Amino acid sequence: MHAKDPPVNAEISLHSDVAALLGARIGFDAETLGPSFLEAVVERAVRESGAEDERSWWQAVEGGGRLWQQLVDLVVVSETWMFRDPAACEHLGRVLVQRRERAGRRPLRILSCPCSTGEEPYTVAITLLQAGLSPEDFAIDAVDVSARAVAQAEQGRIGRHSFRGGATPQPGFFEPDAGTSSWVVSPHARGSIRFKVGNLVSGDGLPRTDGFDLILCRNLLIYLLPQARVAVLERLAGMLRPDGLLIVGNAEAGVLVQAGFRIEGRPDWFAFHLPGPVRPLPPPPTTPASARATTERPAAVAYGGALQVRVDSMPPRRSASSQPSRLSLEQIRARADAGDTQAALTECRRYLDESPQSVAAYLLFAALHAASGDLAATQGSLRRALYVDPDCVEALMHLAAILSDRGDGSAANRLRARVARLAAAVEDSQS
Ligand SMILES: C[S@@+](CC[C@H](N)C(=O)[O-])C[C@H]1O[C@@H](n2cnc3c(N)ncnc32)[C@H](O)[C@@H]1O
Repeated sequence: MHAKDPPVNAEISLHSDVAALLGARIGFDAETLGPSFLEAVVERAVRESGAEDERSWWQAVEGGGRLWQQLVDLVVVSETWMFRDPAACEHLGRVLVQRRERAGRRPLRILSCPCSTGEEPYTVAITLLQAGLSPEDFAIDAVDVSARAVAQAEQGRIGRHSFRGGATPQPGFFEPDAGTSSWVVSPHARGSIRFKVGNLVSGDGLPRTDGFDLILCRNLLIYLLPQARVAVLERLAGMLRPDGLLIVGNAEAGVLVQAGFRIEGRPDWFAFHLPGPVRPLPPPPTTPASARATTERPAAVAYGGALQVRVDSMPPRRSASSQPSRLSLEQIRARADAGDTQAALTECRRYLDESPQSVAAYLLFAALHAASGDLAATQGSLRRALYVDPDCVEALMHLAAILSDRGDGSAANRLRARVARLAAAVEDSQS
């Protein structure tokens, strides 16, 4: 250690102070990405800040402003892509055309929060235009806490990496961005979207209305602390019209059921409405430290109750020939988020070799195969997840989406009916 290096305890305290501040202000659960991720973020943030030392960096971060925003931009997971859930898009078009007919002269109001770099609101706008609506028929507010992501979204430039799993830039909605491998969203598809920086936990920057017909809040709850999840759901409930619909990510359906939302439109697609106040969520099950060290914290584990993805109780099996797994699932996920899908696949395969009962690893394996366009392997991984845990909502929903995409609507509906039965069982047990 150099004479100028801060004592180890001071570093630990800085990291936990940063984690606590992120938790309080944006609801971020630092454990979802692992301690080494936060350490790397803090190191980079301090290095790039131009601050004299960690102490002055921390003071500036606490004060809000540029360095706080820079920290947020570094810590958030902005992973998103176009037409992320093709089956949901199809139904979204149909359902919103019907709602538009009932709405009279009023344009439909839609909130996409978090919108990340814009792929989600652009997907919704294009879906509605393709379904026959005109730009004046709807208005989309697109909000995210990351100023960097919102600035990128406003440019309407979509990278090649954002077209995955067979999605293509349709003519009429995209033009090639000269000299790059990106595409630019046409003015026609951009006109109804208003981008803004805003925070769903504190409420700062959010549109002040209770008039949204549809809110998409996909793939945020999985990164939040339990108390922040409740705050976000209460805020969203207050922004929805009484007949408004809320759509969350496949892995997040369980938490909505726990909070008292009801599934609407089953069996062939899932959105939620709220018949009463948001219910407090049950406390997350505690995982012994020994189990954490050997397994992982699957994104859905903090849901609690019957719809949760289970934490695997079996210790990793280590064969003589297999290499010890060096990466946790969080680290593998972070590697994939950084764009190295092939390395993430290799590490995940190794992980499963050692922990063949890991539902969370099969789900991650499926997501990685989906990202690399291998549909058969995606399905195979989801089926293995269901073999270990037949009630795994995330696997059921993903498999249903794939099956309906491939035209097997009745098989997809059978899986969704299974989810609906599980949801009803949870509702019964809570009423
Ligand atoms: C994984 S992306 C999801 C994007 C998109 N909804 C999707 O599913 O493709 C998560 C986004 O949540 C944003 N986020 C995190 N905390 C937030 C908060 N408190 N309020 C608003 N956005 C937040 C991040 O900046 C990030 O862009």
